[in-house]
Amino acid sequence: MSDPDLQLEPAIIVIFGITGDLSQRYLFPSLYHLIKDGLLAEPTEIVGITRGPTTMEELYQKASLTEEGEETDPAAVQRMHDHTTMVQMDLDDPAAYQALLKKLNDMEEQKGVCMNRLYYLSIPPAAYQGVIKLLGEQGLNQSCQHGQAATRLLIEKPFGYNLASAEHLIGEISKQFKEEQVFRIDHYMAKETVQNILTFRFQNPIFEALWDHDHIASIEISAREKIGIQGRTAFYDPLGALRDFIQSHLIQILGIVTMDRPEILDSEHIHASKQVVLDQVQPVPADKVSERAVRGQYEGYREEVSKPDSTTETFAAIRVFIDNERWQDVPITLLTGKALDERRTEICVSFYDETQAANNRLRFRIQPNEGFELELVTKKPGYTQDVQPAVMNFSYDEGFGNQGHPNAYERVLVDAVRGDHTLFATSQEVLASWHVVQPVLDAWAKQADDLQSYQQGSAGPTHLLK
Ligand code: BG6
Repeated sequence: MSDPDLQLEPAIIVIFGITGDLSQRYLFPSLYHLIKDGLLAEPTEIVGITRGPTTMEELYQKASLTEEGEETDPAAVQRMHDHTTMVQMDLDDPAAYQALLKKLNDMEEQKGVCMNRLYYLSIPPAAYQGVIKLLGEQGLNQSCQHGQAATRLLIEKPFGYNLASAEHLIGEISKQFKEEQVFRIDHYMAKETVQNILTFRFQNPIFEALWDHDHIASIEISAREKIGIQGRTAFYDPLGALRDFIQSHLIQILGIVTMDRPEILDSEHIHASKQVVLDQVQPVPADKVSERAVRGQYEGYREEVSKPDSTTETFAAIRVFIDNERWQDVPITLLTGKALDERRTEICVSFYDETQAANNRLRFRIQPNEGFELELVTKKPGYTQDVQPAVMNFSYDEGFGNQGHPNAYERVLVDAVRGDHTLFATSQEVLASWHVVQPVLDAWAKQADDLQSYQQGSAGPTHLLK
């Protein structure tokens, strides 16, 4: 079942914050599946860093490795267990980093091979800079003692809280790690449908020939969630929907959907092409924020976070335009919300019909039910009544992770071990996306009169976007 292309080099995956929510929900199950499916190289070691005295037994008891209804393979759990080492350390203490370095070196000596080192920061973003600085200053940014393996840093969004802090964070990281060592995770880029957009667009000219303002009336990229913030107050309340989803995932997707065909479909050329278009996305003009941006907060949010005056938005939508020939005057809506009436993430591209009405649609369904859908108006000449468009549905295989193919976080881990940057955001892409949303953040910080309250389980204040 394992894909030989995915066979990797030996690695030590060091997870800072292994007891945290992200590790438990995503990293642990992903590592489990990779180990079960034999997709990691021999040897691969996991080092779990904690501040407190958590034991491995406690860790494994807490983590749920499999999806509901999926049987756990005891042999795979045992293998994972055997290859995990817990390290308790004070993240502010330089001596603790020296001890960690010695441990990693010893591990390699024991195994007798050079191993790629990955530092996965699954800790609150506010703690990034301190840890990264000490990793660098204490020499953990270097290759293994024989100089043959790569050392990489993996970080999760948010990459800064605004343009200025993102610039600062990028500057600080670059003092300790080179750009090619840094892997900024956007797990949406690793979703199968998002990757398939590249193939759909560039390896099949049917639609690419129509991929411009002459044929496309508008694009909507939306991520509607049914869940609320699920107790993640400390993470979510300082962020809000615009930063949490639009600045990161949705602007990355926008890049993939609107970029020009890269000369070659490899990481370097894909990033270069994406960068060109992201730099052409016009920031929402400061005097148009009230028309082109909408925000809302679900009822009960303030009680949930125990902040009676929180103005954090749990719903956000912005409309942007791209300043180039291909996308001239095509409105692009980016929309996301929590506690809505449905869970649906999709890209909807509306094409003109012969009457210049935008009646034909192509939807890329990112979740649930990954696939794509075509809605085409099929009217007989002279037929005057409205006719429902014909809908054609194409589904990708379900249960990607269960069939020997990696899911988004598995893919993230595999690609980072392998050193493939394609699915990771570059520092320049991160800055370009902050540029787009910064005027909205500024306007929203000044006053909150436009924050709409919406009922949980409703569609959210979509109608307000003009
Ligand atoms: C995360 C956001 O990046 O993506 C969460 O911080 C959101 O707020 C999550 O719920 C959604 O991811 P997925 O893969 O479950 O759609």
